[in-house]
Amino acid sequence: MGIKPPKGVILYGPSGTGKTLLAKAVANQSSATFLRVVGSELIQKFLGHGPKLIRKLFPVVEEHAPSIVFIDGIHAIGTKRYKSNSGGEREIQQTMLELLNQLDGVDLRGDMKVITTTDQMETLDMALIRPGCINRKPEFPQPGKKTKKCIFQIHTSRVTLADDGTPDDLITAKDDLLGANIKAICTETGVMALRTITPREHRMKVMNEDFKKSKENVLYKKQEGTCEGLYL
Ligand SMILES: Nc1ncnc2c1ncn2[C@@H]1O[C@H](COP(=O)(O)OP(=O)(O)O)[C@@H](O)[C@H]1O
Ligand SMILES: [Mg+2]
Repeated sequence: MGIKPPKGVILYGPSGTGKTLLAKAVANQSSATFLRVVGSELIQKFLGHGPKLIRKLFPVVEEHAPSIVFIDGIHAIGTKRYKSNSGGEREIQQTMLELLNQLDGVDLRGDMKVITTTDQMETLDMALIRPGCINRKPEFPQPGKKTKKCIFQIHTSRVTLADDGTPDDLITAKDDLLGANIKAICTETGVMALRTITPREHRMKVMNEDFKKSKENVLYKKQEGTCEGLYL
């Protein structure tokens, strides 16, 4: 229709809502070259490495077009600019300026797209998300009941459930269950069921009780601040 297609998207929302998962799904479904960069990995030990990496990245992406650059956790380099004298802060800002610079050139090469994610949208530099840059911003909110139910179905699809093995109370409860919590709960239920092998009962099925206990475990651990990543 004679309009310029968007350069890229930024997926934003709380951590554990499936942003990285979606980008991985795109990588699986698309035949384009997919390059993944983690925002925090761009900031290295030596000054000047971040901008250099960005400068080197884009020609590679161009060479392998059609391609998708995936920058996971862009807030590591895309925070608002402010005057700072520390070398580390300057490095972060230089890296972002280089990224903006390269993104400006993206529309010249139409067969390149950028996918980025962040869980700190409010700290991002406006230049990154202004119209004409990464201007599509799909939100990944906390899941509602219907979504939670779907996510439970996905993660229990290979689990043997007992007749009463439904997580319905968990779906209707008021806890802030995110996709990542639900996955952790489902993994935990399987472990629970396996552990409760008694002499009389070789239980290989997940029961409603298991879901309740797992939720306690997972949410309790969440408050303790232990690494949820262990379940991922
Ligand atoms: N909407 C969802 N549907 C299914 N699984 C999900 C969903 N959201 C999160 N998960 C599960 O939680 C894990 C972690 O999610 P992740 O994509 O790393 O979240 P984010 O990048 O938003 O912090 C995923 O690998 C997946 O197993
Ligand atoms: Mg992520």
